[in-house]
Amino acid sequence: MNIKKAEFVVSNTDPGKCPGDGRPEYAFIGRSNVGKSSLINMLTGRKGLALTSSTPGKTQLINHFLINDEWYLVDLPGYGYARRGKSGREKIREIIGAYLDEREALTNLFVLLDCRLEPQKIDLEFIDQLGENGIPFAIIFTKIDKISQSKLKENVDNYKARLLETWEELPPVFCTSAEHKKGKDEILDYIEKINKKL
Ligand code: GTP
Ligand code: MG
Repeated sequence: MNIKKAEFVVSNTDPGKCPGDGRPEYAFIGRSNVGKSSLINMLTGRKGLALTSSTPGKTQLINHFLINDEWYLVDLPGYGYARRGKSGREKIREIIGAYLDEREALTNLFVLLDCRLEPQKIDLEFIDQLGENGIPFAIIFTKIDKISQSKLKENVDNYKARLLETWEELPPVFCTSAEHKKGKDEILDYIEKINKKL
């Protein structure tokens, strides 16, 4: 799929105020600083579309971007940012929770994981909750330019083995680098296939 048009539509904290046109949406979630906003920019080929930062906690709102006038990409705030403090973390958790609970247009959630890290408790718990709530998702390992191919394979295999301890089947898995523009076609094709079935 080619992205011919990508435009920012609206930011807010209330899922009830997100676009109500029923177009399918694909959201990006994961820990603060994992690379959600950078990935959205890479996928759309528009550098400053989603705001990024080297310090965690940049995205604080639910951001809708309309793609090719047909579907939305959604940039969500990251979870688990320690320096936000307990009440700040709680607030973000509520926004994310409300979005996941209420958003009927949510077609697929992409859960982003830093490819350099061992499986983290916070991510595993989040993924398990998706299963309990029946939210369709895929996994994206980010920042693959930061490690060797062999280390990446080792980490991804390790992660899959960990997931298979609680999951019967693995979700789709993608590997990306916003820096080296890797993984773009695979993710856009995946979205296109789902859109065609709707
Ligand atoms: P929050 O909005 O704070 O939750 O963060 P985020 O997940 O949106 O992360 P963001 O896209 O702002 O990126 C965080 C940092 O990681 C920035 O300094 C990015 O330049 C860097 N980064 C993101 N993706 C990649 C990547 O694929 N490779 C490398 N080397 N750096 C990346
Ligand atoms: Mg962000």
